Order: sequence, then C-alpha cells, then structure tokens
Amino acid sequence: MKILTLTINDVSHSKAVPPTMTLLDFLRDEVGLTGTKNGCDSGECGCCTVMVGGKPMLSCLMLALDAEGHDITTIEGIAKGNDLHPVQEAMVEKGAIQCGYCTPAMVINGVHLLDNNDSPTDDEVKECISATVCRCTGYNSIERAIHSAAEKMREKQHG
Ligand code: FES
Ligand code: FES
Repeated sequence: MKILTLTINDVSHSKAVPPTMTLLDFLRDEVGLTGTKNGCDSGECGCCTVMVGGKPMLSCLMLALDAEGHDITTIEGIAKGNDLHPVQEAMVEKGAIQCGYCTPAMVINGVHLLDNNDSPTDDEVKECISATVCRCTGYNSIERAIHSAAEKMREKQHG
C-alpha cells in the first residue's frame, strides 16, 4: 500500500491505496464520488471520464497513483453550489438524459470542449459526444444540448 494524496474538486484527499488500484475505483470506493460511472472497466464506453490536469481521461484505464500531482475534476465538481454549469442546464432542458449513466462523462467532455472552443461545429460536437457510449438517447438530444450550452456561454461572455 502507498499513501496517495489527490486534489479532487479542490479538496485534498489522502488514502492508502494498493499500486494496482485504478483512479476510477479510488474515486468511487475510497473517496465516495460515485457520479463517475463504471460502464465497462476496460476503456470501451467512456462513462468513467474525469478531468485529470484539465484533460478528459478514462479513469478506468489510469492507475490512481499515476494521477498524483494532477488536479482531478469529477462531475461533482462541475456545478458551483446550486448553480448548474450551462452544459448541465442544457442537458436537462433538451431532454438529453434518460438513464443518466453516460451523462457525467458527456458533461465532462462537453465542458472541456466548450472551455476550449466556444463555437464548435456539428462535427466537433459529434466528435466530443462520440467519446462516450449512450445506450438510451440516440445522441441527437445530447448534440442539441451541447450546441445550446455553447450559445448560452457565448451570450454570457459577450453580454
Ligand atoms: S468504464 Fe472506463 S471506458 Fe468504460
Ligand atoms: S442516457 Fe442512458 S446511457 Fe446515455
């Protein structure tokens, strides 16, 4: 076992972990942040996506110890108190959530896209969404939600 200290959603957590523990298991089982989902545990579905040092990563493929030194953002860190992020608001407004299993990863990837590109093309939104498997929505509503969030964010920025 090794002591791992990680800053997750601006809060520092220290735990003794086995060297083989994945970041996904660390987040869910050790820290209790169960918003990040385990869809396949093998790098196929994208549902376990979190931001590591500001970049979306599959937490089921990353060892917890390898995340040391990088700030982690999970879905629990995206809203600010009761204020949802525009991507989260748009997912609700556009009916882009059914079972919700893919939603945390869709939101993390959407936030990352819009933080880096406030006017994504259809193809860029499709590419962003394609990182996560959704078995319910047919993807169109998620696509509409990301475009709507982009519009909201542009309006906020430019007044
Ligand atoms: S749980 Fe990580 S990609 Fe499916
Ligand atoms: S809403 Fe069910 S997997 Fe996407």
